[in-house]
Amino acid sequence: MTLQEIEQLVFAEIIRVTTAKELEEVQHTYLGRKGHLTAILRGLSTLSLEEKRTIGEQANALRVRIETALKEQFGKLEGKGEEKFFDITFPGKKVVTGHLNPLTLILREIEDIFISFGFSVVEGPEVETEFNNFDALNIPANHPAREMWDTFWLKPENQKLLLRTHTSPVQIRYMMTHEPPFRIIVPGTTYRYEATDARHEMQFTQVEGLVVGKDVTLANFKAVIEAFFIRLFAQKVEIRLRPGYFPFVEPGVEVDATCPRCKKKGCELCKFSGWLELGGAGMVHPNVFDAVKYNPKEVQGFAFGIGAERFAMIKYGIPDIRLFRSGDLRFIRQF
Ligand code: PHE
Repeated sequence: MTLQEIEQLVFAEIIRVTTAKELEEVQHTYLGRKGHLTAILRGLSTLSLEEKRTIGEQANALRVRIETALKEQFGKLEGKGEEKFFDITFPGKKVVTGHLNPLTLILREIEDIFISFGFSVVEGPEVETEFNNFDALNIPANHPAREMWDTFWLKPENQKLLLRTHTSPVQIRYMMTHEPPFRIIVPGTTYRYEATDARHEMQFTQVEGLVVGKDVTLANFKAVIEAFFIRLFAQKVEIRLRPGYFPFVEPGVEVDATCPRCKKKGCELCKFSGWLELGGAGMVHPNVFDAVKYNPKEVQGFAFGIGAERFAMIKYGIPDIRLFRSGDLRFIRQF
């Protein structure tokens, strides 16, 4: 066979074959030890110098093109033509699904419970003004009560914007744009410039509550928080209100519930006291109503602030608050 003849036949044959085995035969016919092209390459030594150069060059170029075409076709035919055993009873590959962070889980649960109580869910920005976070909440500049919040100021030279230290500024935002009566909860991220440990994080999540209307009382609050806690932990609890100070409520209280784990007997979780602290609450201070142009003689309200991580820690038995945002997949995958 001449180079021209080879060229005319080989490429057509390569594309025509339908199995790898047939392709191997084509390869053998042209490039094998006794193949047509091999014969030409072998015969080069008998030719004149001039012929050696031209024919040799052409033959080698053709070999490269044949090899490329073969390679491509082998790729296409891979696995074709062979009978494969396929066991249809074999279990499928497990599909990897994502997980919700336990914090998201608990927030959704908390929201669902309050929605069923007739509350609306409201949100506010994480960067707040000094006015909303402090002044309007009856915490004026230089008042010692500001010490209760370790604050991230955004611009030290212009102390007007900050990362909110609690969700209470959303009380102000909401009241400035809405008229009572209403019931809202405000889930959201809050920030404190704090040394962290197993129970304290710089970034954490609060759920604020605010109910304003005529004849709203602290007894109403106690009933709401008790019903909430019973729903969340699916068991009977007692609620205890202790006097507590927050500038934006009067009277202010600290809210405790009987420990859902040991049922008041005393355990690690409640530090053997039988009681768990849930958060702060109280009746909205008249100065706060003044700041949002409500008439404190006409409306009353209660407000509360609870920590969402705390509830997830109690409910799911999570020992350290820093785990929530650690990004540790071993932690996340348990939920
Ligand atoms: N904002 C308070 C805090 O973060 C909690 C609170 C909210 C207390 C509403 C009373 C009323 O500490």
